[in-house]
Amino acid sequence: MLATGRLLLRTWRESDLAPFAALNADPRVMEFFPKVLTREESDQRAIQVTEHFDRHGFGLWAVEVKGVADFIGFVGLNVPTFTAHFTPCVEIGWRLAYAHWNRGYATEAAQAAVAFAFDELQLEEIVALTAVGNHRSRRVMTHLGMTYSAHDDFEHPALPEGHVLRKHVLYRLRPSTGR
Ligand SMILES: CC(C)(COP(=O)(O)OP(=O)(O)OC[C@H]1O[C@@H](n2cnc3c(N)ncnc32)[C@H](O)[C@@H]1OP(=O)(O)O)[C@@H](O)C(=O)NCCC(=O)NCCS
Repeated sequence: MLATGRLLLRTWRESDLAPFAALNADPRVMEFFPKVLTREESDQRAIQVTEHFDRHGFGLWAVEVKGVADFIGFVGLNVPTFTAHFTPCVEIGWRLAYAHWNRGYATEAAQAAVAFAFDELQLEEIVALTAVGNHRSRRVMTHLGMTYSAHDDFEHPALPEGHVLRKHVLYRLRPSTGR
């Protein structure tokens, strides 16, 4: 479990599944994904997240706002299963319920995940990726101090050629010197 001023980043509970399904069914949250998820697809995604924790010892933590909301979404670290020019790698990612956007929660949680990646896991680099038009997500990457290079743009292999979301950007972050 990781704690910040306002948030807890914790492993998942059964009670997270319903609010997770609700945010995965929200077209505003899923604007930059191929489709919204059904309850079954959402539950399956939660199982994958739990299995990732079992395999790697870290993952996409469930995010709780202390004293406010038991579950607002996930923020954390993930090992992508697809192959691209920057894999294998550890990515940082986030997905929060719409009602909790624009309070700085994603950035606050992600800063804790970055510290875990570099201080605990001793990673040399983490990356973040998103569809080119997802400026809200790209803002979080910038707030974290991640850097973007057009040389790293890539076509997401999980999406069919010509798909409007296929063009992706990659941001990179290395530990600050003197850690
Ligand atoms: C992308 C996403 C996680 C961003 O979540 P968020 O919590 O709103 O992001 P932030 O932490 O950057 O906060 C957003 C804004 O709130 C502002 N803010 C408001 N109150 C704040 C506070 N108390 N403290 C800090 N920032 C605050 C921030 O300054 C920021 O604005 P800016 O980027 O213009 O500077 C969210 O929009 C989301 O879940 N989107 C859908 C899923 C998705 O696309 N995920 C990424 C796929 S790769």
